[in-house]
Amino acid sequence: MTTATSPHPFWLAGREATGESTLEVTSPWDNGDLGSVSVPTAAQTEEAVATAAAVAGEFAATPAHARAAALDRVHRRLGERAEEIARLICAENGKPMKWARLEVSRCISVFRWAADEARRFNGGMAQRLDTDAAGVGRLALTRRVPYGPVLGIAPFNFPLNLCAHKVAPALAAGVPIILKPAPATPLTALLLGELLAETDLPTGSWSVLPVPNDAMPSLVQDPRLPVISFTGSVPVGWSIRDSVPRKRVTLELGGNGAAVVLADYSSDADLDWAAQRIATFSNYQGGQSCISVQRVIADTAVYDRLLPRLIAAVEALVTGDPREDATDVGPLISEEAARRVETWVNEATAAGAKVLTGGARQGASYLPTVLEGVPRDAKVSREEVFGPVMTVTRVDSEEAAFAAANDSKFGLQAGLFTHDIQAAFRAHRALEVGGVVVGDVPSYRADHMPYGGAKQSGVGREGVRFAMEDYTYERVMVLTGLEL
Ligand code: SIN
Repeated sequence: MTTATSPHPFWLAGREATGESTLEVTSPWDNGDLGSVSVPTAAQTEEAVATAAAVAGEFAATPAHARAAALDRVHRRLGERAEEIARLICAENGKPMKWARLEVSRCISVFRWAADEARRFNGGMAQRLDTDAAGVGRLALTRRVPYGPVLGIAPFNFPLNLCAHKVAPALAAGVPIILKPAPATPLTALLLGELLAETDLPTGSWSVLPVPNDAMPSLVQDPRLPVISFTGSVPVGWSIRDSVPRKRVTLELGGNGAAVVLADYSSDADLDWAAQRIATFSNYQGGQSCISVQRVIADTAVYDRLLPRLIAAVEALVTGDPREDATDVGPLISEEAARRVETWVNEATAAGAKVLTGGARQGASYLPTVLEGVPRDAKVSREEVFGPVMTVTRVDSEEAAFAAANDSKFGLQAGLFTHDIQAAFRAHRALEVGGVVVGDVPSYRADHMPYGGAKQSGVGREGVRFAMEDYTYERVMVLTGLEL
């Protein structure tokens, strides 16, 4: 138990523990003190890793029904504590309540899917081998077995659900996991730990360790953690992978998501829908999503009718206190983050871009911003803004639209507004991304579909079953002398 002044304990091999130092957590909205979190010592981190490694065999052998029951319980408890958890996300992340509530409901769905997948996941395909003379009387059976314990490293932008995307598939597959939350948002991950602690999962099968970033390299290198699942920034992600080339590393990194509006998407209702969706999902949670809309690419046939709608929809967004139900856009994670966005927008305008709306910062908040005439090499075009900023570009054909969308080092998801099913197939073939969303923004994500990037946006896939596959490998058993 914590008191008002004592630091929040972390979760070491499923039990509460405290270290020798603390991490302060503050609200990005008003800098309010949200308390402190105890930081594990090197010896405690070692204990968590050693326990995870020791329990790996036993956990892999746990019956599916037991793993499913634990996940079902977390799913139920998340539902019971949903509003409290949403308020915690809002407090430590600055995410408006409407988006925090949505994040909790997505997390509930992740645990529900994980419970279902725990029951389904067996890899048990039987293959007859007598298709060649040498295989007469032989049968191959496969099962999926864990590589070993997972090191899950989570970001601040979905402090609950992106932890869930690491933890739930691991537990469903019988793989121990050590979760390292983001330094800005450890409280939500520790609350998830409370729910995990109510289950009968074996000791050591999970830990939540708010390890400081500078202590991470030795954990990353630890051979007892052969799988790393990282969500976060592009340079950190690739440097982790480069530092452990023999490990199984899943990277969910950044993007500069494109929303493409084709010429046929031209009725008033079409353009109203596209404008409203783009405005909302360029700015949801302050644009701090890897699949928020950053680049709007519109065919010249619809551009002049889309633009005023887009500006009106952006200006209609309610900005301000994330604790208010009506607020659409709150602060960024820190004033430093908002200052970086401000610098990038100023660089773009100095190079000729025009601010159509927004373009101002107050503390950690940045106004939803629309930029036109942005040079191709401006950071707001080339890099991931991770802020409430979109660029709009006019193109004169579908081919030019796809080329503009592909003119990026990233490739996470793209949105395509069209009614033309053939254009949708052409986009699915041509766009260099992990997912194409037709009739909506790139920001759409169902938590059980494969999610991940092409190019510098990452490697591997999340989406419960897909993460379970990433954490495990197929082992074949060949039976001989059978009368098939
Ligand atoms: C991300 O920002 O990578 C995750 C987006 C999402 O889960 O919606």
